[in-house]
Amino acid sequence: MACELVGFGMYVPPRVLTNEDLEKFLNTSDEWITTRTGIKERRIAEEWEKASDLGFYAAKEALEKAKMHPRDIDVVIVATSTPDMIFPSTACFLADKLKCNKPMAFDISAACSGFIYALTLAKTFIASGQAENVLVVGAEVFSKIVDWNDRTTAVLFGDGAGAVVLSRTNNDKGILSAVMHSDGSHWGSLYCPVGEKIKMRGRETFKLAVKNMADASMKALEKANLSLDDIKLVIPHQANIRIIKAIAERLELPEEKVFSNIHRYGNTSAASIPIAMYEAKEEGRFHSGDYLLLTAFGGGLTWGALTIKI
Ligand code: ACO
Repeated sequence: MACELVGFGMYVPPRVLTNEDLEKFLNTSDEWITTRTGIKERRIAEEWEKASDLGFYAAKEALEKAKMHPRDIDVVIVATSTPDMIFPSTACFLADKLKCNKPMAFDISAACSGFIYALTLAKTFIASGQAENVLVVGAEVFSKIVDWNDRTTAVLFGDGAGAVVLSRTNNDKGILSAVMHSDGSHWGSLYCPVGEKIKMRGRETFKLAVKNMADASMKALEKANLSLDDIKLVIPHQANIRIIKAIAERLELPEEKVFSNIHRYGNTSAASIPIAMYEAKEEGRFHSGDYLLLTAFGGGLTWGALTIKI
């Protein structure tokens, strides 16, 4: 049984934090941030705003676009590293806010790879017959775990949420292949202890991100019996424009085939791919019947890639 992506939504908080704003309290510059990362600004949630609040607006829009009532959702999966609480899961809060009808609801913790891990699981639930409709949300409030005195990480992250509704279908659309990996031996490259702030070894993470996303992308294509020529658009995790360009170079992809909106939102971790997918769709960068390649990399380490027929 195949699963089609039938609705997309996104939400970012209205508060914008520009590179110039950061210059006021950090020893950094717009020039450094722009050339090293591609980021110009990011969104910051209000103090009271939680991942489930951001996820709520994104999910509501995805359900509306899918013309689906929340009670028709069988499974709610939230990919997040910044949950509302340790427990209950953010997915439980979200399902309640949406007024779903007692769905299976749980969070996935796979850092920036969380959303593609969650999509893979959604497919499994649908393919096995366990679920007909699955809501997958990436929702993050990294502003709450960033050390605002640490210029090496504070400039990178932003808040936001993206959502996709997947439904059982009889056509040939949906997730065609998935390649997911982890390597806990490199956990020290990027981590956040409970109750503390993010710590990262940027340069090390950079190299591993490029190699692993490029390798996983090629494996996912092979598994789906597709070539890069078949792919309309590559949507990579938005961590750093230099990482995105390096992947494009390794895969010998023209720039216009790779989507990026990192200048607007920074790295929104598990929310970055669904936000990028949403904006790419709105901009008409892909249409029904096109093939997409998604790839992500994050703390864990975790990484992966998947191919989708839209
Ligand atoms: N402003 C000004 N100078 C800075 C800043 C800043 N914000 N941050 C660091 N610097 C300085 C450093 O102190 C260093 O100075 P030094 O040479 O005097 O020691 C210099 O700039 C160069 O620092 P590097 O860390 O070598 O810079 P690099 O070019 O590697 O860029 C960056 C750093 C942007 C973090 C990059 O390494 C990167 O993007 N890494 C990958 C991040 C990533 O992909 N994370 C994974 C996903 S996130 C997740 O899973 C949650």
